[in-house]
Amino acid sequence: MSAVTRVGVVGPGQMGCGFAEVCARAGTDVVVVASGEASAARGRQRLENSLERLVGKGKLSADERAGTLARITFSWDLADLADREFVLEATPEDLDRKLAVFAALDEVVSDGDAVLASTTSALPIMKLARATRDPARVVGVHLFNPVRVMPLVELISSLATGPATAERARAFLEDVLGKEVVRAKDRAGFVVNSLLVPYLLAAVRLVESGVASAEDVDRGMTAGCGHPMGPLRLIDLIGLDTIAAVGEAMYAETKEPLHAPPALLLRMVEGGYLGRKTGEGFFPYP
Ligand code: 3HC
Repeated sequence: MSAVTRVGVVGPGQMGCGFAEVCARAGTDVVVVASGEASAARGRQRLENSLERLVGKGKLSADERAGTLARITFSWDLADLADREFVLEATPEDLDRKLAVFAALDEVVSDGDAVLASTTSALPIMKLARATRDPARVVGVHLFNPVRVMPLVELISSLATGPATAERARAFLEDVLGKEVVRAKDRAGFVVNSLLVPYLLAAVRLVESGVASAEDVDRGMTAGCGHPMGPLRLIDLIGLDTIAAVGEAMYAETKEPLHAPPALLLRMVEGGYLGRKTGEGFFPYP
């Protein structure tokens, strides 16, 4: 099977834009599809800001920035993904929405060998695969925030994923993008979230029950355990809505109480305190 040179991304959020940036910097042509013109403009701005930060730090030249941007097209029409060889679905953690995207990709992406990937954090890849006529080309590609910085990708084959699809995805992720691949079975939480989500939710429960302040919970894990950031700042980085949705999906499958989002997290999501992206979560981001 030929190497991937044309990538599509559905969803211009932090995962989708992060992946588009990594692909374009590796020399790959990328089309990012948003839900509409305004969302595409926000995605483009997000990407430009990220590249600008790198230029400011002297890690990217102005020419490289221009070259990277020239390889990325923003669109709000899924039909623009027709010739793609690898498409990453990176929409919010909403099963119905993802199913609709996969059903549409099945119609649109013409290459029978194209990889149709989802970066879902916890939803079953098999369910997404069943929205298509060829479940063999559907695979999980779970990325980590910030995508540009975190080397890891979890690669998840469902019971129906074809070995050629998994190998095409692995080759692209490792050999072209330089990512580190860990294989995981199609189980809610895969490897990393099975460990990370109970820990993050436990941190919320400590605050909820008044054991310590958010600041002190975080200091406990940075100053006490050497983590690069505390659990509550990490939830703010990932997005409280995402963590709540991932916890719900894991709880739905495992019935493990440690996976159930605590009330404080749910109330904050309902209140729009989603973390960095809305300017406030457990901490303010003026
Ligand atoms: N978005 C994009 N890039 C960011 C960023 C952000 N919000 N915050 C920091 N960065 C980048 C910086 O630009 C810099 O990149 P560069 O080295 O290429 O210039 C790099 O991260 C390091 O940044 P700083 O030196 O400014 O900051 P720190 O040294 O404090 O590192 C951090 C920031 C990399 C975010 C670090 O705190 C860290 O590793 N935190 C843990 C992150 C983590 O655990 N991620 C996994 C989350 S789980 C997940 O995403 C899965 C999902 O399913 C829940």
